[in-house]
Amino acid sequence: MNREIVNIIKQQNGEKPKKPKACVVTFGCQQNESDSEKIKGILEAMGYDITDADITGDLTLGAHDVVIVNTCAVREHAELKAFSRAGQLKHYKDKNKEMLVGICGCMVEQAHILEYIKKSFAFVDFIFGTRSIHKFPEIFYEVLVNKNKILTNENIEELIDEELPVRRGSAFKAWVSVMYGCDNFCSYCVVPHVRGGERSRSGDKILEETRSLILSGYKDITLLGQNVNSYRDPQNAGYRFTDLLRNIIKTDGDYFLRFITSHPKDIPEELIELMGARGRFANHIHLPAQSGSDRILGLMNRGYTRDEYMKLIEKLRETVSDIAVTTDIIVGFPGETEAEFRETLDICERCGFDNIFPFIYSKRKNTPAENLEDNISHKEKTDRFAELVKLQKAVSALKNRAYEGRTVKVLVESEYKSGSGFLAGRTSSHKLAIFEGDTSLIGSFVNVKITEGKLHGLYGNKK
Ligand code: 5AD
Ligand code: SF4
Repeated sequence: MNREIVNIIKQQNGEKPKKPKACVVTFGCQQNESDSEKIKGILEAMGYDITDADITGDLTLGAHDVVIVNTCAVREHAELKAFSRAGQLKHYKDKNKEMLVGICGCMVEQAHILEYIKKSFAFVDFIFGTRSIHKFPEIFYEVLVNKNKILTNENIEELIDEELPVRRGSAFKAWVSVMYGCDNFCSYCVVPHVRGGERSRSGDKILEETRSLILSGYKDITLLGQNVNSYRDPQNAGYRFTDLLRNIIKTDGDYFLRFITSHPKDIPEELIELMGARGRFANHIHLPAQSGSDRILGLMNRGYTRDEYMKLIEKLRETVSDIAVTTDIIVGFPGETEAEFRETLDICERCGFDNIFPFIYSKRKNTPAENLEDNISHKEKTDRFAELVKLQKAVSALKNRAYEGRTVKVLVESEYKSGSGFLAGRTSSHKLAIFEGDTSLIGSFVNVKITEGKLHGLYGNKK
């Protein structure tokens, strides 16, 4: 990142009678949340006050000097939501001509989207992709100072800039990226095309960051990567994800250590054993299965069979007692037969997931699956989706009911509902816990005796 430019903008902003305001509206996954924390960090370093206007439609957006929409491209629905939000900004821009509007994230890494923005979103001033965040100061300078629009994405560099400032959204929960990009090329997925190939951060830098978070009181740390188990230290290919974990947990403190996402084809026994020894690992793993049919898994290019996946879950459950397992499932992949969908229902039932994130297949440009014949009607897809959700609701409720009578450690995150006297937090297994308590407990661990396990969470009393 060009510090000099950041400082020039900061100086200019410092001369203004009122501190200018900026906000970043974020769509998509944790990686995008984490990227937004960096973009906010850069804006803050440039002298902006960062506000937390969010996607629910804050009517004060027009009072901002800069609004950036960080987009997600993983499904068409996510793209439509981002476009609709960006579209609202035109109304604010009409009222406040000085306001600068930027679009960043996965969507703008696609040429056809850039063309669409140029044609239909003429009020947008600048764009930058996931691989150009470090170039944001230069891009922004061109727009702010030289009054040029930047609507091309020519700044792609698959490097890792360790100097980016971060403005964290929480004082007790943090994301830490360990690697970027993905080399897996699942046939339905746009991520490798918009985030590029895998690059890992230096192990020392990750350790430095996690250590400093733990020492400053962070209690829930999530290591992030599209496929964390393919982590390799760039200076030492023999130093892998499990080595990194072993070193991170050497830092004393009271915290949950999480990681997301793991690819089922890349989980080494060593990781399972490490989690089994417990220590500071949160008792949860997210392992996207995507489908329960071998033919569909093959077409998806997932690299494992249904049997291998089930064996992995079995091994995890054997070694890590009481581990919560969640998954992602895609229904309606091109050509998925009714029988193949039944195999997906079956694997969900057999694995007894604590929760699933179900998705209807969404055709993505330039992915191999784009060319597969998609002969399943929309109704069939939505029916399958509804059946899967129904099955999972029953399984999740049962899983949560099993917590009744147990006392669990909960990190208090927020008030449940403003002024209700109830608090909401997360267990090590990442379940929502709701109980009565004082807001002064937010950010600390408490023990909660669970009296009722319902579909959406665990209700109980603070001990
Ligand atoms: N259509 C539907 N779901 C998708 N996912 C990724 N690409 C698509 C797509 N084209 C889902 C996968 C992945 C999750 C993050 O999003 O289940 O694990
Ligand atoms: Fe997409 Fe597959 Fe990579 Fe996950 S592992 S980001 S689904 S290509």
